[in-house]
Amino acid sequence: MRILVTGGAGFLGSHLVDALVARGDEIVVLDDLSRGDESQVNPGAKFIQGDVRSFSDWKKACEDFNPDVIHHLAAINGTRRFHKEADLVVDVNVNGTRMSLRAAKKYKATLIFYSSPEAFGEQENMPLRNESTSVFTPAHLHQRHSYGASKHIGELLCQFESRKGLDVRIVRPCNVYGPRLRGDDNGQVVSMMMESNPIVVHGDGLQTRSLTWIYDVIEGLLKVNDSSNLSGKAFNLGSNQEISMVDLATIIGELRGVEIVHGESNHGDSKRRLPDISMNDEIDWHAKTSLEDGLAQLL
Ligand SMILES: NC(=O)c1ccc[n+]([C@@H]2O[C@H](COP(=O)([O-])OP(=O)(O)OC[C@H]3O[C@@H](n4cnc5c(N)ncnc54)[C@H](O)[C@@H]3O)[C@@H](O)[C@H]2O)c1
Repeated sequence: MRILVTGGAGFLGSHLVDALVARGDEIVVLDDLSRGDESQVNPGAKFIQGDVRSFSDWKKACEDFNPDVIHHLAAINGTRRFHKEADLVVDVNVNGTRMSLRAAKKYKATLIFYSSPEAFGEQENMPLRNESTSVFTPAHLHQRHSYGASKHIGELLCQFESRKGLDVRIVRPCNVYGPRLRGDDNGQVVSMMMESNPIVVHGDGLQTRSLTWIYDVIEGLLKVNDSSNLSGKAFNLGSNQEISMVDLATIIGELRGVEIVHGESNHGDSKRRLPDISMNDEIDWHAKTSLEDGLAQLL
C-alpha cells in the first residue's frame, strides 16, 4: 500500500511509520519538524518537510506518490500550548484537517483522522461513547479547549465528507505512552513523570486517565487501516483500566526513587476520561498490555 503519514516525525507517527515500513508498505512522511524530529523518521520512508496548512506542501507529498491511504496526525499537542498558543492550535488542527480532506478527495485516498477523547471536552458521563455529547466550558474562563474543540471540528468535517462519499475513518488514541514520548514542558503525563524531579501532581491528583501502551495502539491503527467498510466510524483506541494521577505518580516515583509534590491544578482538566471500547469489536482489537508491564518496559 502507498501510505502518507502527516506528523510522521512525532511520537505516534514515527512508531506507525516503523510498523508500516516493516510490513512492506511504501511510505511518505509530511512533517514541519516543529515538534517532531527527523532522526525518528524510519530511513525506509521518504521524508518531506512541509506544513499541513499549505496545500502546495500536500501536493509535493502526493503528486507523484498518489497515496491509497492518508494518516493525518500532524497537530499541535501539549496541554500548556492549548492555553498559551490557542490561536496556533486552532489554525494548525482545523486548517490542517481541512487540507487533509482536500488532498484525500483530490488523490482519491482513504483518510484516517487522528482525533482525541478531548473532543468530548468536559463531558462527565463515562464511558465516552461515539454518541456522547461534547461539553465545553465558557471560552472566557480559559482556552484549554482550543485543542478539544479543534478535534471536535475535525470530526465534524470528516463526517461531512464521509456523508458525501469519501472514505474517512476516525481514531481517538487514548493517553498513549511509550518510547519517544517527550517529557519536556509541553509533554504528556507519563513522560513528564518519567523525567521530572520531583514529580508534580496537579491538584489533588484524584483525576483518572486510561493509559494505553504504544504498541497496542499501533496494532489497532493497522486494523483501522486494513479493514473495509469503516467510513464515518470512530474508534477509541484505549484501555478501560483507569488510574488516578496520584497513584500513577506513586508507582513511577517508587520505580525511579524520586519525591512527589502537589502543584496547581490545570484549568479544564477533566476528572475522568474513560473510553467506551465496545466499538473496537468491529476491528477485533483490544489493548492487552497492563500498565505495570508497559511502565516496566518503558523504564
Ligand atoms: N499521544 C497521544 O496520547 C494522543 C492522544 C490523543 C490524540 N492524539 C493525536 O495523535 C496525533 C499525534 O500525536 P503525538 O502524540 O504523536 O504528537 P507529536 O507532537 O509527537 O506529533 C505531532 C507531529 O506533527 C508535526 N506538526 C505539528 N504542526 C505541523 C504542521 N503545521 N505541519 C506539519 N507537521 C506538523 C510535529 O512536528 C510532530 O512531529 C495528534 O493529532 C494528536 O492530537 C495523540
